[in-house]
Amino acid sequence: MTIHIKNNINWVGQRDWEILDFHGTEYKTTKGTSYNSYLIREQKNVLIDTVDHRFSLQFIQNLEMEIDLNLIDYIVINHAEEDHSGALAALMAKIPNTPIYCTENAIDSITGLHHHPEWNFNIVKTGDSLDIGNGKQLVFIETPMLHWPDSMMTYLTQDAVLFSNDAFGQHYCDERLFNDEVDQIELMDQCLRYYSNILTPFSALVTAKINEVLGFNLPVDMIATAHGVVWRDNPTQIIHQYLQWADNYQEDRITIFYDSMSNNTRLMADAIAQGIHDVDPGVSVKVFNVARHDKNDILANVFRSKGILVGSSTMNNVMMPKVAGMLEEITGLRFKDKKAGAFGSYGWNGGAVDRIHTRLTDAGFETTVGLKAKWKPDGKAMRECREHGRQIAKSWALHDLSNVDSISSSLNPNQAVKSTVSIAPAVQTSCATTSNDTQDMLCTVCNWVYQPVLGEPNQDVQPGTPWSEVPDFFLCPDCGLGKEVFTPVAQRKAS
Ligand code: FEO
Repeated sequence: MTIHIKNNINWVGQRDWEILDFHGTEYKTTKGTSYNSYLIREQKNVLIDTVDHRFSLQFIQNLEMEIDLNLIDYIVINHAEEDHSGALAALMAKIPNTPIYCTENAIDSITGLHHHPEWNFNIVKTGDSLDIGNGKQLVFIETPMLHWPDSMMTYLTQDAVLFSNDAFGQHYCDERLFNDEVDQIELMDQCLRYYSNILTPFSALVTAKINEVLGFNLPVDMIATAHGVVWRDNPTQIIHQYLQWADNYQEDRITIFYDSMSNNTRLMADAIAQGIHDVDPGVSVKVFNVARHDKNDILANVFRSKGILVGSSTMNNVMMPKVAGMLEEITGLRFKDKKAGAFGSYGWNGGAVDRIHTRLTDAGFETTVGLKAKWKPDGKAMRECREHGRQIAKSWALHDLSNVDSISSSLNPNQAVKSTVSIAPAVQTSCATTSNDTQDMLCTVCNWVYQPVLGEPNQDVQPGTPWSEVPDFFLCPDCGLGKEVFTPVAQRKAS
């Protein structure tokens, strides 16, 4: 199957709906992907890139239905990674003398992957051009590290189409090929996921290379990527989006991720998140368990965040392995201009928090003081976690929080009781104030409410039981903490 792109350009690529993993198992492709190859038929016939090696047979069959392979004059390989040059061996077996245009670095990687040093390689550099007849030329632009040292883009004059390879692409599959045809939210989600998980370390190069390309003052009518959509509607939108992402991108967002052996570090995470929200309801707080959530989604959230909080139980005096793995990934992605802190529960030593703190500092984050809780955090410890969150919210705030009470009230009147920085003393006071047994009691950690009229039959607390008669071993049914974290609802609202 082919898809007409523009004038004498056709897409001859391959969709891959089934793929779940990329780069081994490091990148989860939640929306499939495509390997985009393009056939240009002018006086000379040119193939731009091939497809993943697993689809070599289909690729050759499809291409043969479109053109006699012997009529292909030139092959351009923008990038040698096997998702683009994978079908080259099968193609060259059919047309072995066809000139291949690529960067000098690509000869090394193509030869290393395919073991055919005898192929007819032609090295191109930035600014080199290849005449393909009918007044049109291919102009080459080296883009090292976007995504490999061998990468380049190819620009087709007159048609003003930029074949950008990995850059501006996404792991996204849709039978519709053009950017204006697909779901815009899905598309931009996948663009961000791709950039944040793959290109973040090269942000400085992205900025420099885009400015270099813009400096050529070439018109760009379409950007034909090697994965996902062809940008035909306002194609430069993705260039400007890349410039934003490459500029130490952050939103008013805090990402918390952790692993937890016995749920204790998880309790801390939830309380810290609530403390942040108490003080700054405008900040988007996202909480992930690294053992359960999609790693690439967590990294995309880290990319979007002004700061991160990383938690782990202490196990054998070190952090849990999945947290260590995430920190290794984060170190490699070389995020800039972000804040960070460590937290976690422990039994007899708290080595995990110290190690996380060190790793975050070494990775270039501006680190704040860590927080440890011994064994299962009790009510006092949970209040400290919540207060820790409040302090984080204040010190990481991107805007004035002096009117936070009014901000909170206007955002969610029902939650206004949570939004005062003086909540900690109010909680402490209220813990000792249970004189009115008919009052509803609020769990200050998870906001579950004990209503005497209903009781809590699951714990044999019968309807009509006043708070003073609720047994001391009572646990909040939502978060599992004891009576000491409860406070009268009315008093909290008054505070
Ligand atoms: Fe899509 Fe770097 O390969």
